[in-house]
Amino acid sequence: MPGLLLGDVFPNFEAETTNGQIKFHDFLGDSWGILFSHPRDYTPVCTTELGRAAKLSGEFSRRNVKMIALSIDSLEDHRGWTKDILAYNNEESGCEFPFPIIADSQRELAVALGMLDPDEKDKEGMPLTARCVFVIGQDKKLKLSLLYPATTGRNFDEILRVVDSLQLTAKNRVATPADWQPGERVMVPPNIPEEEAAAMFPAGIYSKELPSGRKYLRYTPQP
Ligand code: BEZ
Repeated sequence: MPGLLLGDVFPNFEAETTNGQIKFHDFLGDSWGILFSHPRDYTPVCTTELGRAAKLSGEFSRRNVKMIALSIDSLEDHRGWTKDILAYNNEESGCEFPFPIIADSQRELAVALGMLDPDEKDKEGMPLTARCVFVIGQDKKLKLSLLYPATTGRNFDEILRVVDSLQLTAKNRVATPADWQPGERVMVPPNIPEEEAAAMFPAGIYSKELPSGRKYLRYTPQP
């Protein structure tokens, strides 16, 4: 059964977080958003992930992206665990954790958003949250989703890279190739006819010659 699909308006859920009660769309305001779940507080891989996410929080805010995490733990656990994460990051004690974490101990939101991992269970045999990532645009629509199992930690530099691609391609009719990094050349999408593309990209288009003779590998400098 499909869950949330790309282009769906993200649910405007209410939740209790370490920064108080929120209504998701109000929390986002005019910003982009990243909502990401982790299996459990006080666990090793999750600590490295939230530590890395906290270290990169300035990069996300520079891109106008609001971050929010979620797991099926209580507010009390979140508050205690974030102190450990800050210590793992060698931050001074007393520092504020840079983004809120949703407490979803009844698993209501995790079920509604399709975040549970049937292969990872707690002591009572109840499923834990998988490592799910949703990127939400300023129009409140889902722009990207990732789903990793509990045993594989995510790469938050890659998540920043996809945000850069999503924001670039939201403003310009271009696509970014494999392993693209900001500033590198981008691709002209196949649905733009040659004459239109020439007018649209005054910086020039380079087409790679291919055995098929088809000119579909078209590059242009990043707008
Ligand atoms: C972890 O974060 O280390 C973890 C959590 C649940 C299952 C496996 C690993």
